[in-house]
Amino acid sequence: MSSLLEVRSVTKQFGGVIANKDVSFTVEEGQITGLIGPNGAGKSTMFNMASSIFPPSKGEIEFRGKRIDSLPNYKVAELGISRTFQNLQVFKRMSVIENVMVGLHTKTSSNILSAALKLPHSRKEEARMYDEAMNTLEFVGMDSMCDVIAGSLPLGKLRLLELARALATNPKLLLLDEIAAGLNHGETLEMANLIQKIKGKNVSVFVVEHDMDLVMSICNKIIVLDQGEKIAEGTPKEIQNHEKVIEAYLGTADNEEATI
Ligand SMILES: Nc1ncnc2c1ncn2[C@@H]1O[C@H](COP(=O)(O)OP(=O)(O)OP(=O)(O)O)[C@@H](O)[C@H]1O
Ligand SMILES: [Mg+2]
Repeated sequence: MSSLLEVRSVTKQFGGVIANKDVSFTVEEGQITGLIGPNGAGKSTMFNMASSIFPPSKGEIEFRGKRIDSLPNYKVAELGISRTFQNLQVFKRMSVIENVMVGLHTKTSSNILSAALKLPHSRKEEARMYDEAMNTLEFVGMDSMCDVIAGSLPLGKLRLLELARALATNPKLLLLDEIAAGLNHGETLEMANLIQKIKGKNVSVFVVEHDMDLVMSICNKIIVLDQGEKIAEGTPKEIQNHEKVIEAYLGTADNEEATI
């Protein structure tokens, strides 16, 4: 088993705020890895660095043995890292299939917006992209909604749509930032099944999630951040019984979601 992603002594500072402090861990190929921690722990910041939205202030990030921490984010996408966002980035006036096709352009564009404005090179190219997008929509169970305008979809479907867009690029590593936020119990279970189905397609998955049932049921390994620092790493069972983890969560008793 080889490491897909390796984060070495990474620190990220925003002015006076230290969002990540000397964090090191690996994400293994063929696994589902979880990144958890109370609000403001630095989870999304870590994902933003792993997808090269911004570089670390200190430290190194390697993907399949290659430094990615100073690459532009479209290069990182090209190498095989794809992601969803905590705040949905869906184009509400576009149809479902158009939203997924935008994702297929991001491999060659620096951001989602420029991808949205970019026209396909040819009809043949467009037909190929349409087929790829359709296959991915079928995989997440949304093919029958391909022509629906995204803005009319409920949250659960919007999250599936964003997942389909990330998946359509055929990533080796998929980063999901709170993909189950706002979903009801049934939708969360469906999402858990889908993430396992994605793992079955040989895509490694790295999830940030507050829903502990989801995290504990699907992850092979969990990394815990608190106030920017890694406080624990282990199997779901080890994490559930970890003193520092329990302490970190009890310290945020005002956050109803953050219970273990
Ligand atoms: N672009 C930014 N500019 C300035 N500060 C930031 C930026 N992004 C994050 N931060 C700060 O870094 C810290 C960690 O934020 P981050 O969003 O990574 O936490 P999180 O673990 O994802 O939290 P949540 O569970 O609420 O999503 C917070 O104090 C946040 O305000
Ligand atoms: Mg976050």
